[in-house]
This record gives sequence, structure tokens and C-alpha cells, in this order.
Amino acid sequence: MTQLQAAPLKTLSFSGAAVRPRHATATFRCSAAARSYSITLLPGDGIGPEVVAVAKDVLSVAGAKEGVELRFREMLMGGAALDAVGVPLPDETLAAARASDAVLLGAIGGYKWDNNEKHLKPETGLLNIRAGLGVFANLRPATVLPQLVDASTLKKEVAEGVDIMVVRELTGGIVDLRHFSAPPPPPPPDKLQLIFYKRLYPQIDCIARVAFEVARKRGGNLCSVDKANVLEASMLWRKRVTAIASEFPDVELSHMYVDNASMQLVWNPKQFDTIVTNNSYGDILSDEASMITGSIGMLPSASVGESGPGLFEPIHGSAPDIAGQDKANPLATILSAAMLLKYGLGAENAAKRIETAVTETLDSGFRTGDIYSPGTTLVGCKRMGEEVLKALESQK
Ligand code: IPM
Ligand code: MG
Repeated sequence: MTQLQAAPLKTLSFSGAAVRPRHATATFRCSAAARSYSITLLPGDGIGPEVVAVAKDVLSVAGAKEGVELRFREMLMGGAALDAVGVPLPDETLAAARASDAVLLGAIGGYKWDNNEKHLKPETGLLNIRAGLGVFANLRPATVLPQLVDASTLKKEVAEGVDIMVVRELTGGIVDLRHFSAPPPPPPPDKLQLIFYKRLYPQIDCIARVAFEVARKRGGNLCSVDKANVLEASMLWRKRVTAIASEFPDVELSHMYVDNASMQLVWNPKQFDTIVTNNSYGDILSDEASMITGSIGMLPSASVGESGPGLFEPIHGSAPDIAGQDKANPLATILSAAMLLKYGLGAENAAKRIETAVTETLDSGFRTGDIYSPGTTLVGCKRMGEEVLKALESQK
């Protein structure tokens, strides 16, 4: 029988960052033995199915060790959905995702669909599921693990100790203008700008608050990245972020133009603690930050909104050039699974188990091609997963 406990919401942390777990109420109401959640799996395209299969097993074992039962339902998305049913995000997929407790996505896209019209691109499916779940805050941690410092393309002394959290606004900006369309006849440009700003204004406040919360639980430094020397939308962004800062007097806020930020990231990445930026700058800067850590194959992400299930996905793409060859690095998806447990379900202990198992596997010297260095053991995607599972199973 479910044992109800009247515990308050708790705040959880990854790399010292924190957000409120979305299902914390449910999580902390039930005894550990009674926790049961439904997870929607969206393997997608390219290497997606390979890395999601590995992460699914890891999730099951880590959950079971903590009395968390996970039920999985696999749904079509991206190019796989286009091939099967002709749309990149079938209604059933969105409905299943909405009805579940958390969503784990592999990757979408591939050469085959590159020339499709926009509404028939796999990427449109991804934008639509993010919008459909309302997951506006995307957390992308870029942490240089001591075991992988030699895999970084930067000098050891530059890369060592880097621990950055990029907070990317995920459902707005120029990436998603669907809500800006005004009814005909087209309004004059200044009116259009007003429509754009009306929508942008609350978006900036929401993402800024999430970022300040995250920064508060990390090093207390937030760098807001914009292009306020040129773009009006960025001028508004800077104004609002500065206004929200008064709610967080314990966080030190700085501002940086995006071109400078991309340069500073490779010159002196250790100066950054938490970065908050818009959808498109966040897309670009998080890829750049990932290479400091050695490989984009290592970087997980968590996307959360006001309520409802979160979406958890590696930040890498579908890598069609290595798909089906058992060469992919599954660690970004495995670490995304850890974020799912932590941020999505409030199952912090199970998440910690995965993080520890990943560290132990790297300590044992196992490496996929993207993080390989001489003296380590080169393994494929499946074997890497098996080693993480072994490490998990040997935990008490
Ligand atoms: C990412 C990806 C996506 C994005 C693409 C595939 C739509 O690059 O998650 O970073 O631009 O958000
Ligand atoms: Mg990207």
C-alpha cells in the first residue's frame, strides 16, 4: 500500500545546480517501495535507437536499486515517424509523452530528410514536442571530468576544472516564431515588433528566474549572453534580466555579447559558472562548451517547464555517419537518464547511482572512439552500456 508522507517539495542538484523536481510532490508522498513511473522513450533516428536502448537498461537497474519502478513506452518521432506515418510528431506520440511522467529522447534527423519541407522535417517534430510539453528551460551542463581532461581539444590547464551550466531558453526566440504571426493584413513593422515583444517579455522573465535559481545553487555567478549592442530583442532581454536580478541579490550578474562569449569560452572557460541565453545562442554555445569537456557525446540535457513531464535528451545529434555501427557514445544519454531521475522524478539517489557508475566505468579505462586516448580501452556503444550496468550492479 502507498504510504503517504507529508514531506515538502525539495530542491535537487546536479553539479551543484538546482531546480525543483517536477514530480517532487508525487515522489515525496510515496514510500520508496511504492514509486512507479511511466517513461516515454523516443529513440528517433541515426544513433538514437542505440543510445536509448542502452540508457533504458541503465534506468531500469538504477531505479530498481532504489525501489523505483519504471514502465517504458516507445513511440515514434522524427524521421522514423515520417517514414512510418508521414509526420515528424504523430499526435499519439505527443499524447503519450504528455500522459507520462518523463520523456527520454535519443536524437532525430538524417540526410534522408534534409531536403523535406519545413513541416516535414524531423527537427520540426523536436521543436513541436518541446513546445507541446511547454519545456521552456533547457539545462545543459558542461563539466570536464578529470578522467577525460586529455580528451579535450583545449590545453589541460585551460580545460581542467571547467564546470559550466548553460541555461538555454528553449521554446521561443527566432527558433520558434509560430506565436508571432499576426492576422492579415500584415501590421506595420513597429506593430509587429510590439507583438513580438509582448510574447518575448514574459519568456525572458521565466527563463531568467530559472537561471538565477540554478546559479544560486551553484557558484552564485550568472552570465547573461545577448547581442544588446545591435538587436532590439537583446536590449529587452538585458533590461528584463537586470530587473529580475533584484529578486536574487545573492547572485552576481554579468552580461556578455554572444560573439565575445564564444571567444571567452575557449580562451578562459573557467570564468563561467552559469550562463543564461536565448534559444539560438544557447544551441550554439552549448555545442561549443561540449567540446571543452572532450566530446559532445558526453553532454546530457534536461528540459523543464512549469508543470507536466520533462524532456531529457543528449545534446548531440543523430550522427548518421556512424549510425548502426555500434560506435556511438551512449554516456550523454545515460547521463540524461540520470537527469530524468533527478529533475524529472525527484529520484536523486537513483540518479547519483548512474553518475557514480559512469565515473567508475571511465575510471576503469573504457572509452568510445570520441573520447579515446592511448592507454585506454576502446569499446563500442553496447559494451560501454554493459560496463556501466556492471558498475551499477556491483553497487550496494
Ligand atoms: C539541439 C539541436 C536541435 C536544436 C535541433 C536538432 C532542432 O541542435 O538540441 O541542440 O536546435 O535545438
Ligand atoms: Mg544543437
